[in-house]
Amino acid sequence: MEEQYLIVEKQDRIGKIRLNRPRVLNALNSALIGELADVMEEMDRDDQIRVILLMGSEKAFAAGADIQELAESSPVDFVMKQFFADWERIRKIQKPIIAAVSGYALGGGCELAMCADLIVASETARFGQPEINLGVIPGAGGTQRLTRAVGKARAMEMILTGKPITAREALEAGLVNRVVPADQLEEEALALAKEIAGKPPIAVRLAKQSVLKAMDLPLEHGLHFEQNSFYLLFSSQDQQEGMQAFIEKRKPNFQGK
Ligand code: HXC
Repeated sequence: MEEQYLIVEKQDRIGKIRLNRPRVLNALNSALIGELADVMEEMDRDDQIRVILLMGSEKAFAAGADIQELAESSPVDFVMKQFFADWERIRKIQKPIIAAVSGYALGGGCELAMCADLIVASETARFGQPEINLGVIPGAGGTQRLTRAVGKARAMEMILTGKPITAREALEAGLVNRVVPADQLEEEALALAKEIAGKPPIAVRLAKQSVLKAMDLPLEHGLHFEQNSFYLLFSSQDQQEGMQAFIEKRKPNFQGK
């Protein structure tokens, strides 16, 4: 029987995706990443979905790219298969992505968690970039996103030694949003997802894009993007609803229009 790499469920405006390759601790082979990009893009287009929640198992969010597959690859294979194209598709998802991380988030697993906009970690989570021990370096953004998230000193140490950090260390370093007991991970991540799902979707989308611009644009251009997004929101019904509800002292009901 063919392995089902992803378990997908849509519930209360949340699109839940669970990585499901338990035999290899959710090692990310190309087929899995391709399916993940397909599902995320489909959720990005689905008006019923406002937030994407990405999870692994209790033991592993993902223990990295599939080393078996990597070991058999040549530079030409990477070029011809466009090895990172599906990662780029994930990077371009516009709805907020929350990663709920328990256990190992190593190599590509840590990089995938960092593609999310928010990370909720269980106390058991371990984040690391062990590629150096395999004779390579991170390839799906690890050297870039980790450095932006935790700063040069810590990123350099993690990437040069390959040693993972604990959930608490990740929290202290600013890599994750919160650390929760393992048995409350899904519940806490869902609560955060629901909170954001209740916000005006167009503003959420533009807010996500604006914050991401802060990571790669000079201030002047980032401010310009923010201002234009701000102006644009004044053509949305949700802006009128949000401000009217405040004035009328009632709860707003955002429609995503
Ligand atoms: C393929 C993997 C795997 C991986 C684990 N497995 N990680 N298979 N790719 N990344 C497999 C093991 O071979 C083993 O299969 C089964 O999963 C269980 O793993 P064990 O090692 O027996 O478990 P444990 O002793 O608990 O150790 C857990 C672990 C270890 C510390 C996470 O598995 C480990 O070090 N894994 C590799 C981590 C890593 O180096 N990741 C970076 C990959 S490179 P069998 O058949 O023996 O039961 C990378 C580059 C990204 O991510 C580039 C861009 C995409």
